Formats: sequence, structure tokens, C-alpha cells
Amino acid sequence: MAVDLLLGLQWGDEGKGKIVDVLTSKYNIIARFQGGPNAGHTLVFNGKKHVLHTIPSGIFHDDATNLVGNGVVIDPVIFKKELDKLDEQNVNYKTSLLISRKAHIILPTHRLLDAASEASKGKAKIGSTLKGIGPTYMDKTGRNGMRVGDLELSDWKERYRALADKHEAMIDFYNVEIQYDLAELEAEFFEAVEVLKSLQFIDSEEYVFQAQKAGKSILAEGAQGSLLDIDFGTYPFVTSSNTTAAGACTGLGVAPNQIGEVFGIFKAYTTRVGSGPFPTELFDEDGATMAKVGHEFGATTGRPRRCGWLDLVALKYACQVNGVTQLMMMKADVLSGFKSLKVCTAYKYKGEVIEHFPYNIEPENVEPIYTEFEGWSEDLTKMSDYSELPKALNDYIAFLEKALETPITIVSVGPDRKETIFR
Ligand code: IMP
Repeated sequence: MAVDLLLGLQWGDEGKGKIVDVLTSKYNIIARFQGGPNAGHTLVFNGKKHVLHTIPSGIFHDDATNLVGNGVVIDPVIFKKELDKLDEQNVNYKTSLLISRKAHIILPTHRLLDAASEASKGKAKIGSTLKGIGPTYMDKTGRNGMRVGDLELSDWKERYRALADKHEAMIDFYNVEIQYDLAELEAEFFEAVEVLKSLQFIDSEEYVFQAQKAGKSILAEGAQGSLLDIDFGTYPFVTSSNTTAAGACTGLGVAPNQIGEVFGIFKAYTTRVGSGPFPTELFDEDGATMAKVGHEFGATTGRPRRCGWLDLVALKYACQVNGVTQLMMMKADVLSGFKSLKVCTAYKYKGEVIEHFPYNIEPENVEPIYTEFEGWSEDLTKMSDYSELPKALNDYIAFLEKALETPITIVSVGPDRKETIFR
């Protein structure tokens, strides 16, 4: 059976966790394929909010198997904290959570290197979540990294020491002030590694291959968003992995011809956390209203998210790069009450009007060109059927579907599992 993908089409925080949770009952296996604890996937059900960072969003469903794929980077300390939270909820993950031996490990010194690198950049900092993501992927591509499978070797601690010592020398090289007690960080790390080792490590690409052969349905869960992709995002203000569809092939070992549906998740407006260009960013009352009504604070860092109008130029680009087959629009409810709405349909780029996403979208090069829409005032959160949606929202949806040449099959009208309208 083909593997379906679920991806964010903007700068992350689109609401992927909620949709995976909603769709999980249709799948046997939910697999994360890239990123790590920089992600914060929020799920709300039975009046409770749950935030997952590395563990796939299918973990609360008894029948689903959850796989952390080879493309993911794992911080054992954060992973243990996630498991502790699952223990509090009596979630039985011992049999339903599998980890790829080829996933890379985030060491405490990777986190320190992230902090040192950001501090050394000053104003040009990426605005990283400081979870050690960049340095861990650097060690992976530099062929120095430590993998989950290494933890099964008798000399893994010596390997750890050699890498950590090298990192300490690199931290000195940055010549910036960062305070840390490595012995304390390591004690916490070694304890967490033992917990990780109590879980099931597998040769995940073989597992996925056999599962497909046996007719199991698989949903690959993306993290971050397409505009944070290391190749196609707003480089260098991006994350260090391929967040787009191709990343699912390399991050799970799935052949490109085995990909089925590609679900693209986007918010009805746009947000971004951290640094980097954002053409439709708002600095006025409208932006403040989106932030307030949409509770736009990072699920991982708590940082306020920057807000702005929907950017169709960027969204079209993300649909193209990912081969999106179905769109899912999130947080339509947040736009209730706006008299009018704007959608950026083209850029004025270096004096010329363009409709494609160019190499450089820095503010000095790009000015958004907007199309205006009538707003709606109805509270959407109590609506459960497509026929109840206000006409102005239906017009907004119809316009986007036409422009993106892709159907919008889910409209989310609130954070809870139940606040989901299928079309
Ligand atoms: P890093 O992945 O922690 O190195 O962060 C690089 C950039 O990606 C920063 O601008 C972060 O704010 C952003 N970022 C990383 N992960 C997420 C996410 O899950 N949601 C939104 N932004 C993210």
C-alpha cells in the first residue's frame, strides 16, 4: 500500500499534530521522518491539551504503531520527558512505539553548540529553537554523528566521549559566553539514554517495506513547514532537514513511486516564529488580533509568533514542491470578525510583478500585492457541517482551491479533534 504524507506548507505550526490525530484511525502506522524536538505538535481531546515533540501524533490511539524514522534526530532527555507525560496518561507505548536504529542522537554538547553558534551570529541569528538540531544534522552529513543503533554497541560511551570532547573544543572556538555544567547535563543524558534503550530499536526501512507489502496503511507525519526546508525554504532562516515530500523518502526509506496522497496543511493566515523574511507580516491591529485570538505562541519555545495575511505565492510554491493532492485549512475560526481579509496573490519583485516564489524574499526586494475579500463574523467553532459555513468563508475557500488547483478537504474550526469539518 502507498504511503500517504502529511506536511506543513508554511513556516511550521500549521496544526499538523491535530490532523494526524484526526486521521490516525484510518492508518495502521504513523511515522515521523525528519526534525526532532524543535517540533511541537499539539493535540486537544477530551478537554485536555497534549504537546508532542519527537513522538508521532498517533501515540494516543491504541491501535496505531508509531515509528520514529531514520531522518529524525532524537534528544534522549526530551524524549524521556515526553514518555513521562505519556506515563501520566497511562498510554502504553512499550509495544506501539518503534525507533529507527539509523536516527541520530542529539548530545548535550549539540545543544551547547547551537547556543554558541546563535550567540556568535548576533543580529543575524536564525532564531533557532536551541534544541541542537543544526549541529546534530551537521554531524550527520559530516559523518561524525552518533546513531540510535550505536547505543547497542559495547563501546558507545567511548564514542560519545570522543564526540563530546570534540564539541567542547568547537564551543571554545566560538569564543562566546555560554554558561553550562557538562557533568550535570551528562548525568541527565545518560539516565535518559537508559530509558531510550528500554524501547524497541528496529531496522525501520525494512519494517516499512514489509508493512507496505503486508497491506498496512502508513501516514508519514512531517514536522516544521515547507518554507523551513533546508533546500527550498528561506535559507539561511530555515531548519536543517528536508521538510518537504522528498524528505519522507529519505527519512523513512520509502521509494518515490510508493507515495500516495500528499496532505498539505496550511493556516487560513500565516505565522512565523524566529528570524527571516515574511512578506505578508502585519505590524498593526490585525496582526495583533490574529496573535491573540489564535494563541500564537510557540508550542516548543513559548515565543510569540509573527502573524500576517495568507501568502498565496508561497503556498502555491509549497504545493508544487510537495505535489500536494489535498489541502487542509486550519484556524479559519481565528479570522471570524475581520471586516475584510487580504490574500497576497503576487509579489512586486525588484519592480516587476511576479507570481512565483523567487530566490530572495527579503523586504527590500519584495512587496506583496493583495486581493481583498469580504470577512465573516459568525463563530465557526460550533459548526460541524460544511453547509453551515458562512458564504464569505465559502467564497474564500473556493478562491483558494481555484488558485491552488487542489481541493480543500478539511476545514478546521477549533483546536479540538471534534472541531473539524470534512468536505
Ligand atoms: P531549528 O530547527 O531549531 O534550528 O530552528 C530553525 C528555524 O526554524 C527557527 O526560525 C525556528 O523558529 C524554526 N522552527 C524550527 N522548528 C519549528 C517548528 O516546529 N515550528 C515552527 N518553527 C520552527
